[in-house]
Amino acid sequence: MAKKLFIKTYGCQMNVYDSARMADVLAPLGYGETDGPEDADMVILNTCHIREKAAEKVFSELGRLKAIKRRRHECGETMILAVAGCVAQAEGEEILRRAPFVDIVLGPQTYHRLPEMVARAARAGGAVLDTEFPLEAKFDFLPAPRVEGAAAFLSVQEGCDKFCSFCVVPYTRGAEYSRPAAAVLAEARALAAEGVVELTLLGQNVNAYHGEGADGEWTLARLIRELAEIDGIGRIRYTTSHPTDLDDELIAVHAEIDKVMPYLHLPVQSGADRILSAMNRRHDRAFYLRLVDKLKAARPDLALSSDFIVGFPGESDADFADTLDLARRVGFVQTYSFKYSPRPGTPAAAHETQVPEAVKDERLAALQALLNENTAAFNHASVGRVMAVLFDRPGRHPGQLVGRSPYMQPVHVEGVGHLINRVLPVRITRVHPNSLAAEPVGNERECA
Ligand code: 5AD
Ligand code: SF4
Repeated sequence: MAKKLFIKTYGCQMNVYDSARMADVLAPLGYGETDGPEDADMVILNTCHIREKAAEKVFSELGRLKAIKRRRHECGETMILAVAGCVAQAEGEEILRRAPFVDIVLGPQTYHRLPEMVARAARAGGAVLDTEFPLEAKFDFLPAPRVEGAAAFLSVQEGCDKFCSFCVVPYTRGAEYSRPAAAVLAEARALAAEGVVELTLLGQNVNAYHGEGADGEWTLARLIRELAEIDGIGRIRYTTSHPTDLDDELIAVHAEIDKVMPYLHLPVQSGADRILSAMNRRHDRAFYLRLVDKLKAARPDLALSSDFIVGFPGESDADFADTLDLARRVGFVQTYSFKYSPRPGTPAAAHETQVPEAVKDERLAALQALLNENTAAFNHASVGRVMAVLFDRPGRHPGQLVGRSPYMQPVHVEGVGHLINRVLPVRITRVHPNSLAAEPVGNERECA
């Protein structure tokens, strides 16, 4: 009989990708996904450690799952409980100590071994811990990804060597690793053959990609050029980029290849040189602003999104004013902004001049008010524009489809329900709080 698997995913797109791949790995064992933990034979929490009391959230979720597991036991059923992802990597043994009913603790680099771990957990009746950084790359052991819809993630790079002083990623995900180009191209071709139109290349530091290619190391720019040759692939995105790895070759790709979407996530974190330096970001404000100019010169319709941290240790009112100023100048169309959260083991956490919580709250509110204005202005300026939208989901009403504009804005349109998973030109007609409304243009001519 089919077994039921429930995966709860926290955090970034890499975790979303990893969760899908864990489901792929477990499918041959008879596991199919279900919507909740109550009827699940196996539950995986795929955790994130980047901000806030991540570990505490996981332990309280585990408390709830413990009760469900006990109930299932009383009914003669079992539930395998696994904790994966970056909290698992960081906390390891501590999870098994505090939550001994957990069966498996695995890090982000070992999930290709899940079938073996499940068998070991069943056999031993005890817990399995696997948070190594193994020599073998998990990608070499994963089955072909299952495709759902016309937009897919493709992980090309993992880990980070940048060591920003606030960030846990270099510790939880490990050193930078780039998949060989041939493996990426093969996966992309397989996805295209299954109907994928849009690829989002993933990596913690994706533009540091330097995978082995047919003729030496390939850059991300080279990889994108080759991916753009694949029939059926109509749109390419990549995330997340570090400013110092965004070289002229990659900027040229934005100018030359229409399939590369005119939208780039380029975290800046702060607009103040003093703070950027304390963050070990390896670039200053002028460097970032120059990059933005170069990108816009290469692709005038390019829009940027970004990440910000407020209240980094030592951040003064003047530093924060620089951040507001930079945000105003660039006019980001989408942003993610956070209060600084000390991460155990990172250099900034030990800093003596932590910013009081109330100041962080104030600064976050001020920054978000400005950033939201920029996003709203961009959305309103979209009205009347014709955009190519990949419609990949049915909407709430019959015949309605929802998709993404080149700028990742959610767009919905009526009366073209049969054209799901296609890229259509539509005219934006209205701005809703969380989406844009559009109407088809011409007679449903497709873009790609
Ligand atoms: N505190 C607050 N925000 C953080 N980020 C990473 N680490 C921290 C931290 N310790 C944010 C950064 C990063 C995004 C993914 O999360 O802005 O770009
Ligand atoms: Fe973290 Fe900095 Fe690496 Fe991004 S570049 S993953 S913020 S260390």
